[in-house]
Amino acid sequence: MRILHLIPLIPTLFRLQAHCLKIACSQMWIEHTPLSYAANNFYNSDSDTASLISGGVPNLQDTTVDLAGNAETQGLLNYVQNKNYRLIGIIVEVTYRLVANKAAGITSLADLRGKRVGTIPRTSAEVFVRQLLANGGGLSPEDYTTVSGWVCMREPCGADTFPAQLADGTIDAFGVWETAVELGIRALGDDAVVFKNSSVYREVYSLYSTEEKLADAGTRKKIVEFVRALNQTYDVFRGAPDDDADGVYTTVGELIRVDVPVLKSVWADHVWGPGSLEKDLVDYLEVEDQYLAEVDRREPLSRAELERFVDTSVYEEAMQG
Ligand SMILES: *[C@@H]1O[C@H](CO)[C@@H](O)[C@H](O)[C@H]1NC(C)=O
Ligand SMILES: *[C@@H]1O[C@H](CO)[C@@H](O)[C@H](O)[C@H]1NC(C)=O
Repeated sequence: MRILHLIPLIPTLFRLQAHCLKIACSQMWIEHTPLSYAANNFYNSDSDTASLISGGVPNLQDTTVDLAGNAETQGLLNYVQNKNYRLIGIIVEVTYRLVANKAAGITSLADLRGKRVGTIPRTSAEVFVRQLLANGGGLSPEDYTTVSGWVCMREPCGADTFPAQLADGTIDAFGVWETAVELGIRALGDDAVVFKNSSVYREVYSLYSTEEKLADAGTRKKIVEFVRALNQTYDVFRGAPDDDADGVYTTVGELIRVDVPVLKSVWADHVWGPGSLEKDLVDYLEVEDQYLAEVDRREPLSRAELERFVDTSVYEEAMQG
């Protein structure tokens, strides 16, 4: 008899579960933290909640996932296979840095000829290293060796991570997202030399959804609400006072297990959304896609395909409300 009483409850539970906005992203990096912050502090659509799962753009294939956060590189690589994916907002633009060891004779990017450069294949980090060394050092991929490794977000860094490998001479330089580069700089001390050029490469960590999710009125309404919550978050992140009076560094540091002084020293290289989704973004994606297409020996995406990929309508709708 008791069991029979429970049966009517089951459909209600399903409905409640279906309500929750599900966001896939890697929860280890600084870039994702506005998603957590917005979900924890600002998102509240008809008492709906947003939850994060580990992953990224590829998870959009799972129709229970509504949104994803990832660099533009993963966005492009996945869009090639899934033309229903949409880039609907910029969460943060990050000027990546490359740290090299002066003791290995490196004072300019051209000095990286014949050297070992740490980076992570098929990610924004590799795109950054290739573009920076080509543009700033006149080097093509055959001119240096790339070495794969692991990032470190907090000291002590394990022996197989880039900062430790740079310090022990296994590699001569590395380029990847923060806070690994900052920890590499600290590990080398006076021997560190740093290169960056945001006009050559910046990571455009973005928010993605699918054409189908955006066409569904109920889901779209929640996504628009979430984009508004993100907009509030950017304001908080941008205005973070140096003394951490509002606790943003502490909160973000706890989310990703990073020490506050290290986080503060890389904060300025992070430009918190919403950026521009206009022609300049499509131009930027086009250049990157040409590089990716060459690596993968495929046709580059057409201008029309790239223009469809970037959907400005959600952000516009969010800002009207
Ligand atoms: C950054 O790259 C651009 C384009 O290649 C170049 O014009 C500019 O001089 C570079 N800036 C620095 C500081 O090297
Ligand atoms: C978005 O954020 C800006 C501040 O950065 C604020 O002026 C604006 O009102 C916000 N828009 C919405 C719709 O919340």
